[in-house]
Amino acid sequence: MLGGTRLGRSTAAALTALVAAGALAGCGGGDAEAAETLTVYSAQHESLVRTMLEGFTEETGIALEFRDANDAELANQIVQEGEASPADVFLTENSPSIDVLDREGLLAPLDQSTLDQVGAQYRPSSGNWTGFAARSTVLVHNPAQLPQDQLPASILDLANPEWQGRIGIAAGGADFQAIVAGVLALRGEEATRAWLEGLERNANVYPSNSAVMVAADEGEIDAGVMYHYYFYRDRAENGLKSDDAELHFFRNSDPGAFLSISGAGVLASSDQPEQAQRLVAYLTSPPAQQRLAESTALEYAVGNDVPSAEALPPLAELQAPQVDPGSLDQQRVTELMQDVGLL
Ligand SMILES: [Fe+2]
Repeated sequence: MLGGTRLGRSTAAALTALVAAGALAGCGGGDAEAAETLTVYSAQHESLVRTMLEGFTEETGIALEFRDANDAELANQIVQEGEASPADVFLTENSPSIDVLDREGLLAPLDQSTLDQVGAQYRPSSGNWTGFAARSTVLVHNPAQLPQDQLPASILDLANPEWQGRIGIAAGGADFQAIVAGVLALRGEEATRAWLEGLERNANVYPSNSAVMVAADEGEIDAGVMYHYYFYRDRAENGLKSDDAELHFFRNSDPGAFLSISGAGVLASSDQPEQAQRLVAYLTSPPAQQRLAESTALEYAVGNDVPSAEALPPLAELQAPQVDPGSLDQQRVTELMQDVGLL
């Protein structure tokens, strides 16, 4: 999704002009009158982010300009740009990439009132970014080939010889790599390496979660690892890619029940830190979280007291393992996956 559309340059320009006109007319002093545009680097699904931020510009007079690419691309770009980065806010699909920036000291602490809008399990202990959505790891399976009573108890079982040639993963994507980071945080390096070696022997590698789901649906594989929402979205649309498949949630605090957090943070180098803080506050506020819950994205809301879409099993019942999202080590994951030949 490189070079995705912005809020529309003309819209942004018009808003900027409007705010500037207000300033010239002398309506009040202070920051509010300045012509403002925040640059948002966003790796989350474009439509979800736009839906959640609906109304932000109207409410605040702050225009938004988006740069859309994947988690790793944008994180690397910010690291390379350093102090000169035009990014004010970074939104990721999964948390390892935003945590890379936190470790580099590139994020500003978030306002406590923003952190307080999201449950502590959905943000890092550093307080330098916060979750704004969550996605659950699942096993998508073909029940005709893999009935319920033969499902693996743990995602770690997929490394065992009996799964050779029967499973699928999207190894190259940030989604799958976040799950590996979860396994690494929960079980340590030795167990993770052994698991990855098993997957390298057993799994067909697909280019995306959707491709994994289609392969399971069509019986090309018996089961695959992905996130829950691809399944629910397809079922909500027409079921064409999922009607012969089912989902298995591992639960029991298994690494396979890992919950991946979409992260939002303010760059320490932003020249509009107050406005950037406002955007993250807005994204985690009840109205934005409610729009997420009501949207077709079918990811989980993480704002306090905002229930997720009714089609989904409640977040609290997924028995996700406890992982500080600030403890996920993307760099080590990349090295391990390269070592075993999955990347
Ligand atoms: Fe996705």
